[in-house]
Amino acid sequence: MLPLIGDGVDRADGRKKVTGSAQYAAEFALPRLCHAVLVPAAIAKGRVADVDVAAAERMPGVIAVLCYKNVSEKLKHVPPAEPNGTSQMPGAEHMFTDRVIFFGQHVAAVVAERLEQAQHAAATLRVTYADVQPPATGLEAGLDGAKPPKSGKAKDEEADTHRGDADAAFAAAVVKVRNVYSTPHETHNPMEMHATTAAWDADGKLTLWDATQGVNSVKASVGTALGLPADGVRVIDPFVGGGFGCKGSTWPHVALTAVAARAVGRPVRMMLTRGQMFTGVGFRSPTRQTVALAADRDGRLVSVSHDSVSVSPAYAAFLETAAVTARHLYACDNAATSHRLVTVDTQVPCQMRAPGECTGVFALEVAMDELAVALDMDPVALRMKNYATKDPEDGKPFSSKSLDQCYRQAAEAFGWANRNPKPRSMVAPDGQLIGYGMATATYPANRKESAVRVIAYADGSVVVRSATQDIGTGTYTIMAQVAAAELGLPATAVRTQLGDTNMPKSGVSGGSTTAASVCTSVQLAAARLRDQLVALATAATGGPLHGVPAAGVRLDGGKLVADGGRVQNIADVVARSGGNAVECSASPEDFAGDTKAAKAFSKHSFGAVFVEVRVDPRLGTVRVPRVVAAYAAGRILNAKTARSQFLGGLVFGHGMALLEDTYTDPRTGRIVNDSLAEYLVPVHADVRDIEVIQVPETDAHVNPIGVKGVGEIGIVGAPAAIANAVYHATGWRVRDLPITPDKLL
Ligand code: MOS
Repeated sequence: MLPLIGDGVDRADGRKKVTGSAQYAAEFALPRLCHAVLVPAAIAKGRVADVDVAAAERMPGVIAVLCYKNVSEKLKHVPPAEPNGTSQMPGAEHMFTDRVIFFGQHVAAVVAERLEQAQHAAATLRVTYADVQPPATGLEAGLDGAKPPKSGKAKDEEADTHRGDADAAFAAAVVKVRNVYSTPHETHNPMEMHATTAAWDADGKLTLWDATQGVNSVKASVGTALGLPADGVRVIDPFVGGGFGCKGSTWPHVALTAVAARAVGRPVRMMLTRGQMFTGVGFRSPTRQTVALAADRDGRLVSVSHDSVSVSPAYAAFLETAAVTARHLYACDNAATSHRLVTVDTQVPCQMRAPGECTGVFALEVAMDELAVALDMDPVALRMKNYATKDPEDGKPFSSKSLDQCYRQAAEAFGWANRNPKPRSMVAPDGQLIGYGMATATYPANRKESAVRVIAYADGSVVVRSATQDIGTGTYTIMAQVAAAELGLPATAVRTQLGDTNMPKSGVSGGSTTAASVCTSVQLAAARLRDQLVALATAATGGPLHGVPAAGVRLDGGKLVADGGRVQNIADVVARSGGNAVECSASPEDFAGDTKAAKAFSKHSFGAVFVEVRVDPRLGTVRVPRVVAAYAAGRILNAKTARSQFLGGLVFGHGMALLEDTYTDPRTGRIVNDSLAEYLVPVHADVRDIEVIQVPETDAHVNPIGVKGVGEIGIVGAPAAIANAVYHATGWRVRDLPITPDKLL
């Protein structure tokens, strides 16, 4: 049954992407299109005293310069709709005012006939400032004033948690480690920058082509920000050149582009520059984390505590939930976690691939490595000794958990048994220090509401449609696969349509939820369509299947095949039904029972990452020649696109471990390295052998289709595994990411 599910089917959108015919948000040509370029604030805190609008408007091609002096629209910042949700349009209320609250805030937009004219006028626009004050930018400087986040509920991610008495158990323990770990301010660098094309029609309706992970959330937040009626905005986004979380929120430039288009009475295209990606949208908050672990002599954990501090501005809160994983990962009777925020004058941080998990697991899994050293115990054995067979925080059973298999299979494929546990004991013939390190990966399995329609047309074609997004993960492909499997078609016979708010409503592509959310609905809608086609065929007077018992009809290769051999094409069934199409839907209400039942379980994907590093003892450079990682994430819908997600996450983790860091000038709030020349991400030469093992796992509880999601878990664990390997290679413990050569000299 469902033979196509899991197959490594090629990407449905692959050809369009490699031939350049896939259209991104800044590639829609509209009649009378003009171009907007944003002008970022050159101060972090203060006031705009003047913008020389008149001089810029005299420049060639310039149509308008928009700023606080000439725009009366007051935009609205939309607070989070759910606990731990993110603000939409954060800071928008300050956009057309003279108040500057962070460096790089949009203080003006220049609209011109041609992009180059807008760029030139924006670059030379004279903006003067007053009341300039030094900003608070760093985590370290504000540690003394760190405050608890405003917590909605006692049991949510933001609250402090305690089970047992972690402090007392730590004090009484014989073997213990307690250290401080830090991760830097990281910046999202998807290949496609944020971009918006905005057009108003004669009836005052707005269409946005926007680079986003959530067409419906852009629709809702722009509608609210501009005070438009619910059906006043349509958002289209067929292709996204990488999301990683920054495109999961709606940022003020989206509404600003709409305001500009209305002001000039023409469609406007606006794309952030690479430099504006560092200030115009959110970032990954730096963290400072204290992890204390204690164990008995056999390595059984008796105390786990994890306290994390991150940053957020006063005008919109975001919490990097780094301490959450420590509640769930290891069996231990005494555990405590907390989060605190330092208030800064910056853009608001936001989700970045595996927000919370990848920062927190770095600290927790390096701490576990340190505990293994203190116990003189193998790091894998220590983790197996403390293996949780139910969720230690709430006692719920796991919906499925194959982490033991991940450790075993990855360790064996890697050759972990060949590791000499003594640091600095393995040296290559060329003098490079060899290190082997490992870490656990985990990420929660969640699901969002999703509506889907599946349609069979009279020409025999089948379309599956939902207002979801394919952020490069393979959504086009897996939606077609799941529908095709139910309808007995090859995957290539089903077309996926997505990325348009006129389609059935789905959620943001974030939190590794899209496959589980959308494909449960695809499966149900396609099953309904199959039953509908069979019902129509067996009821159609004069049709070849008329009167055949429905239970004996199956779909195969585009045909309905009855027991006894009678056959009818899907196209013929549709044609005889009296219309052009037969369609069926599935909606969130269909899954209310499943959602309730799943609450009884703790739902997570798991994995294990093993890496080899080579450290140059004279230069301090770290190379990663080999990675073996095993993941168990429930049902895998497409082995090929899932593998790409794991690979992408591991490469991202490599950047987090060794390269990525955003530097802010503390005097001005200016981001110093706001380009890909100076903000380093891994390139091909940094990435060598990566082996991904997909551990088969069946999950009957997580959701009806059994999918846990794979978008984020790949980055989790990789930084800790690399850091642990660097310790093994050198004997030096670096607890502060990224591990740059200066920290090893
Ligand atoms: Mo992801 S950081 O939830 O887009």
